[in-house]
Amino acid sequence: MVTTTHDDRHGTAGSADDLLAIRGLRTEFGTGDRTVRAVRGVDLSIARGEILGLVGESGSGKSVLASSILRLIRPPGRIAAGEIVFDGRDVLAMNTRTLSRWRGRDIGIVFQQPQGCLNPVRRIGWQVAEPLRLKKGLGRRAAWDEAVQLLRSVGIPSPESKARAYPHQVSGGQAQRVMIAIALALRPKLLIADEPTTALDVTIQAQILELLRDSCRTHGTSLLFVTHDLGVIAKLADRVAVMYAGNIVETGSVGGILESPRHPYTRGLMDAAPRLRSSEGERLRDIPGSIPNLARPIPGCPFAPRCGLRKELELDRCDREMPPFVQSAERHAVRCWGLPEMRTANRTNAAAPEREIVR
Ligand SMILES: Nc1ncnc2c1ncn2[C@@H]1O[C@H](COP(=O)(O)OP(=O)(O)OP(=O)(O)O)[C@@H](O)[C@H]1O
Ligand code: SF4
Ligand SMILES: [Mg+2]
Repeated sequence: MVTTTHDDRHGTAGSADDLLAIRGLRTEFGTGDRTVRAVRGVDLSIARGEILGLVGESGSGKSVLASSILRLIRPPGRIAAGEIVFDGRDVLAMNTRTLSRWRGRDIGIVFQQPQGCLNPVRRIGWQVAEPLRLKKGLGRRAAWDEAVQLLRSVGIPSPESKARAYPHQVSGGQAQRVMIAIALALRPKLLIADEPTTALDVTIQAQILELLRDSCRTHGTSLLFVTHDLGVIAKLADRVAVMYAGNIVETGSVGGILESPRHPYTRGLMDAAPRLRSSEGERLRDIPGSIPNLARPIPGCPFAPRCGLRKELELDRCDREMPPFVQSAERHAVRCWGLPEMRTANRTNAAAPEREIVR
């Protein structure tokens, strides 16, 4: 049976067991005609202990979404609408003090450029020890000892002596391990990692991914992993959310999405992903065209100008209306007027028959 929702606010909203539930989130930059609508009504949830991969081309809004969850959007940017509920708490209603406590304790963050995030004039050990002192209340000695243990657990060799090093004295891969140690120091419930391996060479990338996955599995930490690379998702995630032009267009289990992607954009990403090609010599295909200008109104499906299926089926509706989510299998939801199960609704221009909250 096909179940759909025609309400953006409920497309991928989750269940009461979710650690994080985002509904109808809109994030904008600027004002008036120049307003860039970077996140355009996103619904997304992450279960406890789940690894969710957020994937999409450059400019699709992944980092803005991650920063919105953390309330790190600075003016002239703003969260214009929506709801972010973390472990039962309304994140958008938190005051500055509560926010800063919450960020350090319940959420860990790992960014792309570890060297830029570390303080160049402080020893690594003290940087790992700092949250343990400030937020866990440990004394200097105890915090230092625990920092050394954390450095050991993230695979830093000779952690006792490396703890005394400054950031410029360690490699990029080791600096990223240090960032992961800092992010995990307080055993957060959620780790957000925004392209944490793109600045590293390929061998080190694989090691860091393994470290992230193992650390989260060991401690039951949920992970939101942001990447433009479906190959990385295949290795790491339980579930995938595909983002395009500020919207989530498909979500599902990694197996479900990689084996039977349904949205034309997800299929395009698969064709463009070198590590997912099974037969050698098969040519990679770029998705022709580019992401639409996010400062202009987009009345219909944002992928329409690039979509082969729209052209093939002559689906005028794509240009006028954003498709609703359709749940095609358990936990697999897609928004596309070209799905066979949407064709009746297209012919009659009618709303789809049922309405249900899906994930
Ligand atoms: N501070 C800002 N002011 C204005 N526009 C912004 C700002 N930050 C992001 N944007 C715009 O929001 C859109 C989404 O950007 P975002 O950085 O989230 O993309 P992304 O998916 O993370 O891309 P990438 O893979 O390159 O990191 C882009 O059009 C970008 O130009
Ligand atoms: S809704 Fe239309 S334009 Fe958008 S992906 Fe589906 S077929 Fe293509
Ligand atoms: Mg980004």
